[in-house]
Amino acid sequence: MKAAVLLSLVAAAAAGCTPNYPTTTIAGIEVVDTQLVRDALSMIKNSGLNDYVVKHQIRSWLYGAQQLNNNATLKSIVDPEAQAITILLHDLGWDQSPDSPWTTKEDRFEVDSANAARNFVLSHPGGKKWSKTKVQQMWDAIALQGAYGLASKKEPLVWGSIQGIAVDYRGAGVFGINQTIIDQVTKEFPDDDLLTGTNETFKWFCEYKPETTYDTWVEGWGTYFVPGYNPTGHRQVDQFRTVF
Ligand SMILES: *[C@@H]1O[C@H](CO)[C@@H](O)[C@H](O)[C@H]1NC(C)=O
Ligand SMILES: *[C@@H]1O[C@H](CO)[C@@H](O)[C@H](O)[C@H]1NC(C)=O
Ligand SMILES: *[C@@H]1O[C@H](CO)[C@@H](O)[C@H](O)[C@H]1NC(C)=O
Repeated sequence: MKAAVLLSLVAAAAAGCTPNYPTTTIAGIEVVDTQLVRDALSMIKNSGLNDYVVKHQIRSWLYGAQQLNNNATLKSIVDPEAQAITILLHDLGWDQSPDSPWTTKEDRFEVDSANAARNFVLSHPGGKKWSKTKVQQMWDAIALQGAYGLASKKEPLVWGSIQGIAVDYRGAGVFGINQTIIDQVTKEFPDDDLLTGTNETFKWFCEYKPETTYDTWVEGWGTYFVPGYNPTGHRQVDQFRTVF
């Protein structure tokens, strides 16, 4: 390692800053470009995941990256590589293929996704360099993706990842992302199938593994849209009721 690089890494560590990663540009957004990130991208593109999930994860990453690009303070407290991996892999548990390496019948999709992301990081030479804390925060961010009220009070990597994902659903005007950026990203990765894809996936969870959906934010998809789905008796509140 050259002395100048070493010195800048030491300075970054001393200041509590994140390291300087190599970057590239995707859809006009400057993003971190490490082997770990490249391999995560190629893994999701070549997996059994539906196209709408792959595009959702890529767009969410680009929005998350742009949030860091917009704000140097944020960039100094959210590790861009860890944010990239967290966002790119946050929905691995949406894989509906029968031989999915990620989706289980027993666990809710957030746990499947978090476990799969952790396995990916821990088995990759780049990920093996991550601290235990970083791996843990990635797991927490993915597991808490549907609970912003909790995630927003946790570490910067946790909320700094969820904020990227939120923009893909909520559009321009949240977390510093404007319409120009949205247009730029959706031109390359169209989002016209996001809502129908999410809808179909959540209904599928309620049919395929209903026990993992009761008393979670996915429950409403079952109640509204899945014939025969009935959470009554499976919720926490039910043990407090005497009449059903
Ligand atoms: C930049 O991010 C920091 C840390 O989250 C936040 O406190 C600050 O308000 C942000 N600045 C702007 C201009 O949004
Ligand atoms: C949108 O955001 C980008 C990146 O922060 C900025 O460069 C651009 O000027 C903004 N565009 C408008 C119309 O505000
Ligand atoms: C979600 O699925 C339900 C039931 O199939 C349907 O009525 C509704 O229009 C769908 N919503 C979207 C946004 O696809």
